[in-house]
Parts: sequence; structure tokens; C-alpha cells
Amino acid sequence: MDYVKHALQLLEAKFQREAEVTSRAPGRVNIIGEHTDYNDGFVMPIATDAATYTSAAPRDDRLVRVFSTTMGEQAEFSLDDLQAKGAGHWADYLQGVAWSLGVDKHELRGVDAVIVSDVPAGSGMSSSAALEVSWALAMLGVAGQRHPDKKALALACQRAENEFVGMKCGIMDQLASILGERDSAILLDCWTLEHEAVPLPADALTVVVMDTGKPRQLVGSEYNTRVSQCKAASDALGVRALRDATMEDLEAAKDKMEDIVYRRARHVICEDERVFEVAEALREEDYAHVGDMLNQSHASLKDDYEVSVAELDLICEVARAQEGCYGARLVGAGFGGCAMALVRTEAAEAFAPAVKAEYDRQVDYVSRIFSVKADQGAGLV
Ligand code: GLA
Repeated sequence: MDYVKHALQLLEAKFQREAEVTSRAPGRVNIIGEHTDYNDGFVMPIATDAATYTSAAPRDDRLVRVFSTTMGEQAEFSLDDLQAKGAGHWADYLQGVAWSLGVDKHELRGVDAVIVSDVPAGSGMSSSAALEVSWALAMLGVAGQRHPDKKALALACQRAENEFVGMKCGIMDQLASILGERDSAILLDCWTLEHEAVPLPADALTVVVMDTGKPRQLVGSEYNTRVSQCKAASDALGVRALRDATMEDLEAAKDKMEDIVYRRARHVICEDERVFEVAEALREEDYAHVGDMLNQSHASLKDDYEVSVAELDLICEVARAQEGCYGARLVGAGFGGCAMALVRTEAAEAFAPAVKAEYDRQVDYVSRIFSVKADQGAGLV
């Protein structure tokens, strides 16, 4: 499907307007480095070929009218009266971005807009970051800013989610959507925001998303609890953030914290180390070792960080038993939603139906299994 064409036609059909700008912002799949970003640590996501598109035409007033095909509904708000509806309403992400761009002193205009997307919502591919980034690019585009600073844009979108929507997310998803590169994963330092591309050659490796069909539950509250537990750990360790602590530091300070806080910190510190191991193994094309690290990451997320659920564990187990699977782990926040597997490309076609058949046979949920490509980051099209 040609999403750009679809968005342009829909803008005409819904609002009888011709687009001035259309933006594209991808979803993301994180290869490794989970729950490390808000500890100022390291992550290694890809931007996906699945993306969110916003077509917008400027208005002469301060009204925003926007139709989302994903939600199947229209929202309206005024740039002079930005108020969260609450409960993670989709329009709050848009209002939040408008608010946050205002904090950065951008002068915005009212728009008529449509949003179309093939990033599956609520499953762990960060449809929310794709929405924020695509919306921010479109809003800035109609205001005459076609080449905004990428990192400032990511931070503005994160601020929208942290302070307007109320989810204390880190910076990974927004930066992944903006900085993605074809056939590469992005090794990102969430403190300095420095990044480099690590080869993920499509002819050798296929990233397969495995949506368990189990809706994510309690993500907001449980996620924010993890953020506080990590803060408790870094306070006990006397460091600014867990990225600055080693396993030796943690062992030495073990008595100063509750066991649960210790285990959360152990996950974060070891996960940061795994990010570098995976980057090195990818450069050396040692894919078996990459896979081992992914499996270890899952075990740590399950046992120490406690963000897995039985369905995520099962789908990863089923995946690992297939020919050509290097490793599998849950992706994103956890608590349901998606896992990912890294599969030898030659084996990828047979992999998806085999995992689906076995997983669907064992649980009441219906999985959706599909491969994604590491693609270019967001921009105007
Ligand atoms: C969510 C958040 C990210 C990150 C992941 C876990 O996707 O939005 O910032 O913390 O969870 O790695």
C-alpha cells in the first residue's frame, strides 16, 4: 500500500484540503538494551519499514483538526487551549507535542491533518513515538521548519510523553524513529545522545516481530515503578544514574538496598554490558553469540526485572526451537505485546508459520508474526 498517496487522498476526502507537507516516522524494534534508556544507559534499536505518516495543510486560525485511520476517528483542539483528556488518549500525544514544541519556542499554526500508519498500535513497536515524531515533523513543516534539529525534536517528543501524557519513558523510541539507518542498528548512548550505526545485513539477518496477541497490561504504572526502583538503586549507590555503576559497585552496596531494587539494578547494569557485546559480535558476524545475548537479555528481563508474561516466555521458547533462530527476547516495556527473534534470512520464510502454528496451538491468543526491515529514520517525504 502507498501510504503517502493514501494520506493525501484522505486529506482531500475528509477536509477538502491539499497537503502542504507529509511526514514519515518509523516504529522501532530494539535489538538489545531494554529498560536501560531511562538509566542513561545504552540501547541498540532499529527503525522499521513500518511507519506513521502525517499529511497536513495549514489553517488561518489556531484550530487543529486531525483524523487518524488507526483510531477511525477525528480529534479537534485549539493550540491556545491544550488540555490532556487523560488515560493515554491518542490526541493527548498530539496536544502534548504541540505543547512541548511551544516550550521550545516554536511558533505553530493550526492545521487540518490526517494520520495513517502501519505500525501496529499497543504492541511494543512504539507506535506512540512514531505518532509523536511524525506529528512534530508535520507541525514544524507547516510552520516553515523543514529541517529541525533531530535530537532536539526527539527530546521535545519525549517531554510530551513524560510531562503531558504522563509516561516516564526514556529517549530510545523517539531517537530510534529519527536516527534509523537502512540495514543497521543504532548503538545509542542515552546520556550523551552520541550514536553509531552497527551493521545488520538483511541478506544474513532477519528481524522477526512476534506479537503474542496478549494485550499489554499495567504498562504505565508498572513502568513508572521500575523507573523509581532504578532511582532508589542509583541513590543507594551514590551515582547519578545506573549507567555509572558496575557490578562490583552493586555487589559492594548490596546491603544498602532491598533485594528487589538490587535485582532491578543487576538487570540494568548487565544489560548495558550486553549491548556492547552484541555490537561487537555483529561487527564480527558472530551471530550465534548475538543470539545468546538476546536470550540472556530475556532471562534477565523475566527474572530480575520481572516485566515478562507467560505468553512472551512461550513465544520466545517456541522461536528458539526453530531452525535458523539465533535468539529471541521480549521487546519494549514488556507486560504483554511483542517479542522479537533474530533469524538467519534463508530460514525466515519457514520460521513465521512454524512459530505461529505452535504458539497458537498452546494459548488462547492469536499471534501475528512478521518480519521488519531496518530502515531510514523519520523525515518529510
Ligand atoms: C518503552 C519506553 C522506552 C524504553 C522501553 C524499555 O518502550 O518508551 O523509553 O524504556 O520501554 O526499554
